[in-house]
Amino acid sequence: MAAILCVFCLFLALTSAAAWSAPWFCHGHECPPYELIGEYETFEERYYNASRWIMTGIESTASSVVYDGFMKLYGYTDGENERSQKIPMTLPVIVATSQSDKENDRLSISFYVPPNLDLPAPTNADVESLDRPEGRVFVRAFGGIASESDWLENVSELREYLLKEGKEFDAKNYVAAGYDPPWKLFFRHNEVWIPAV
Ligand SMILES: *[C@@H]1O[C@H](CO)[C@@H](O)[C@H](O)[C@H]1NC(C)=O
Ligand SMILES: *[C@@H]1O[C@H](CO)[C@@H](O)[C@H](O)[C@H]1NC(C)=O
Repeated sequence: MAAILCVFCLFLALTSAAAWSAPWFCHGHECPPYELIGEYETFEERYYNASRWIMTGIESTASSVVYDGFMKLYGYTDGENERSQKIPMTLPVIVATSQSDKENDRLSISFYVPPNLDLPAPTNADVESLDRPEGRVFVRAFGGIASESDWLENVSELREYLLKEGKEFDAKNYVAAGYDPPWKLFFRHNEVWIPAV
């Protein structure tokens, strides 16, 4: 009997090793899987599949504005939807631009939606779902509690590294990805993403 159980354990261990293994900074929450395709001294290159998010538009990156947006999304996951359904927390929380040649700079804050989740319709008209396309992104990770200017300076720094390495990137857009609540002081993990072109 023990031998049979052990064979079963081994099977579980092997199948889970083959599946996506989330990095430590996801802290056991669902986060979008990626493939690491390049590691450099100051940044890495990842490939993400298309993914679904819930989002709300924000007017600026000022902390209080970002916080209000966060609370709208949090409300949605806490039951402000047509099924009064609670939706488990995921990571990261991202603040992203969506600037194209046609559009002006538009900012949003979003929560990741795992692929198998059937999303209830929001009751707050400011909350909507958003599909992010698949593609490569350059990522710079850093620690500490980041202020608004820390985020933006980290974006500028990543752009400089990319120029130095001769990488082609989307110079208009970025994503700021947070993996920790504001009250956590140590072992924080923040990322800025810049889409590759
Ligand atoms: C992307 O999707 C394909 C097809 O579903 C899957 O085989 C692959 O593992 C996914 N890659 C990542 C990084 O999620
Ligand atoms: C990046 O953000 C951290 C705070 O998390 C800050 O200490 C650091 O100075 C920033 N880097 C740059 C280049 O501004």
